[in-house]
Parts: sequence; C-alpha cells; structure tokens
Amino acid sequence: MTALDAFEIRGGRPLSGSVRVYGAKNAALPILAATVMVEGTCIIDGVPALEDVRVMIEILRALGAGVEQDGERIVVDAASIAHTDVPADLMARMRSSIFLMGPLIARFGEVRVSRPGGCVIGQRPIDFHLRGLRQLGAAIEERHGFIRCTARRLTGETITLDFPSVGATENLMMAAALADGVTRIENAAREPEIVDLARFLNACGAQVKGAGEDTIVIRGVHHLHGAAHRIIPDRIVAGTIALAAAATGGSVCLEGAPTAYLGAVLSKLREAGARVEVSGDALWVRAEDGYRAVDMVTAPYPGFPTDLQAPFMAWMTMARGTSVIRENVFEARFRHVDELLRMGADITVDLRTAVVRGVPALSGAEVTASDLRGGAALVLAGLMAEGVTRVYGLHHIDRGYQDLELYLRDLGADIIRIQSGEDG
Ligand code: UD1
Repeated sequence: MTALDAFEIRGGRPLSGSVRVYGAKNAALPILAATVMVEGTCIIDGVPALEDVRVMIEILRALGAGVEQDGERIVVDAASIAHTDVPADLMARMRSSIFLMGPLIARFGEVRVSRPGGCVIGQRPIDFHLRGLRQLGAAIEERHGFIRCTARRLTGETITLDFPSVGATENLMMAAALADGVTRIENAAREPEIVDLARFLNACGAQVKGAGEDTIVIRGVHHLHGAAHRIIPDRIVAGTIALAAAATGGSVCLEGAPTAYLGAVLSKLREAGARVEVSGDALWVRAEDGYRAVDMVTAPYPGFPTDLQAPFMAWMTMARGTSVIRENVFEARFRHVDELLRMGADITVDLRTAVVRGVPALSGAEVTASDLRGGAALVLAGLMAEGVTRVYGLHHIDRGYQDLELYLRDLGADIIRIQSGEDG
C-alpha cells in the first residue's frame, strides 16, 4: 500500500441491509499480549484481520512464541519465549506494543521496549504505566530512547491512577496477575475491553475481581495455564456503522452488536431523532427523515467514546441546527476538522470544543486521513456528500476497520479502493 491509495466514494446513497460485527481490536491486542504470560496454549477466537493485529503477531513471533492463524482464530504457544526485548521497528509500528511491558516483566522479570513516539491525537504519555510498574517493585531505566524494566519479583500494591487510562489499567492488571500478594487499581478504567481481558486472564487461572468497576483487585498467582477465549464484538465499529446509517438516511441491522456497551451512542442517536431498536444482539438503526443537531461530550466509559467523536462530528455536519462537541479524553483530536471543512462543513474549534453548524449538503472532495477514527469520519462524510470523495491515508483506517469498503458495499455504498498503480 502507498500513501496514494484511496477510497473513492460516490455519496448520497442511504446504507441499507445487515452486517455482522467482528471482534474488537482494543480487546484483541491486550489479550494477544497477555498470552506471553501463559505457560500453555491459548486459543483466541474472533480476532479481527487488522494491521495492528498483524504487527502484534509479528512481535509475538519475534519474542519466540509459536503463533498459528486460521481465519479469526489465533493459537499462541508462549512456552518457548526466548527474548524479552520488543524489536524497535515493530514497536514503532504500533503504540499498543506497550502492552507487552506488563506481561513480560511479570513472567520473566525483565523487558526492554523503545519509548513510543508522539501521536497525532495528542501526546499520549506512558507515565501512568511506568509509575504503576515502579509501585509494583520494578526498576525502570530509560536510555537512548529505550525503556528497560527489571524486577526479581513484582509485589502487590495499591495504585491510584490520575486518570482512568485504558492502557495503564490493562498493563498493570496483567503485571499484577503474576505478582506476589494483592494489587488494587483505583480509579481504573471501566471499558468493556478491560472486562474482556480480565475474563481471559481468569480463564487462564488469574484472580482478577472488579474489572468494569473503578477498583480492580488482583490476587497474584504463580503461573497461568492455557485457555480458550472469544473476543467481544467491536463497539467502535458497530457505533461507526450505526452513525453512518443515520447519517445517510439509511436503515441498517447490525448483527452480533454489543448493544450493552453502546448506551451513550444509542442515546445520542435517539436524541437526534434516529429510530433505534434492539432485539437480542441485533441492533437496528433507521433515520429516514433527517435528524437534528445534538451536543456531545466524550468521557471514559460509560461516557461517549472518544473513538467515535470524529464519526459523530461527520454526522452532525448535516444535522438541523448546531452541535457543540467537547473532547475530554485527548487534547488534540480534531485533525479531521480541516478535511471536513474542505467538503463544505461549517465547524469552528476552540481548544477542546468544536461547534458544528449543520449545512444542507456536503460536497465531495479529496481529503486525507491523519489518524484512524478521523479517517472513518471522512469516509462517513464521503457517504453523505454529493459527488465523488477520495479519502487518502488508508493505512490509518486499515489499522482498525477490516476491509471497510467491502463492509460498506454490503450495505449498498458506492465505495472502491483505488491502488495508486491503477489510477492513470
Ligand atoms: C485506548 C484505546 C483507544 C482509545 C483510548 C481512550 C486501545 C488499544 N486503544 O488507548 O482506542 O481512544 O483508550 O478510550 O485500547 N494518559 C496519560 N498517561 C498515561 C496514559 C494515558 O496521561 O500513562 C492520558 C492520555 O494522554 C489520554 C488519556 O490518559 O489523554 C486516556 O488515554 P488512555 O485511556 O491511556 O488511552 P490508550 O490506552 O492509549
């Protein structure tokens, strides 16, 4: 793939039909990282075919684990792990490789990673991860861009996070699973993906209680054994498609949707006038007569997810009225705004707040994704717009959406992937 690969979208068609929601990237990544702690074979089902997952598999193999992949199933045998240095080139390709820190230090007493670089959606520091590991007794040394962490054995402690960070909660939960004694993580993040990770760890013999609440208590055990686990469905993918259905005036059924995790999103859809019906694990979204502007504030779960802020904003560009959107989780997550302006949206940004005045139409344009969810927002805007939109920067979108163009085509969208060589 090159930077010139693009989605070409002919907008204006309502999405209609039904699709099945696949497994959650943000659950699969920490669970795959956790397999390195396990002295046995882990069978993980429902793993999405995404670029970030491919990088995680490469990392596991580079560490010496046996990994076999058969469609959505990944089998990991980490008995033979021979290294605890995460290769810097792979680390640079995916921020989530930071998840290897907790598991590797817990099982082997050492780990070396390169410090993850900056990120377009904000600074994304890892101070909570490092402080928590220190509290568990790890010695941490930073030199020449590498972080080396060592500990003879980690010891349980009470750790209070300054902010309910998803990644820090997961990393510390994994480290504590093999520590001596009891660890309490206070002000823990409560995202469903954390609950899924705890379920996996417990299936392997860990003793984690309270995942999904703001205090998690982990009683360390001496070793973990192999287990089978199915990844929960992706609530961000489901939310993106639900917003796209409403934004195009469509009618879509999402099968296998994690409706219980989508409360904040479904209530915004209803508030704006979309019809939302839940029947078992099927979610119907219809918005055939337009929709009104609603305000939205992102917050840690169960608040409105920051990962759907950009798609939500794209939806609001054509709402009746004005929407005020506040981003409370990341400090710089409005990179999609300039691109939406190129398509005729009316948006002003002041620090963490965007004011979106609904316009009657967007017009197709050439736009570039600069991050994953911002990229999804541009695709959504392309589906809503008159004429042809080209969205570049597909490597961002492919990190988190599996064959997005095929998925949308199943719902009647006119979208193709153009590879740079094909385009005259
Ligand atoms: C995870 C998700 C990402 C989502 C985010 C927030 C994965 C793989 N990614 O990212 O899709 O957008 O949660 O829901 O699950 N922070 C610090 N110090 C730290 C850690 C975080 O200051 O050590 C700050 C961050 O800068 C940010 C906030 O805490 O402002 C939340 O970040 P965090 O929850 O850690 O996000 P990630 O785990 O990186």
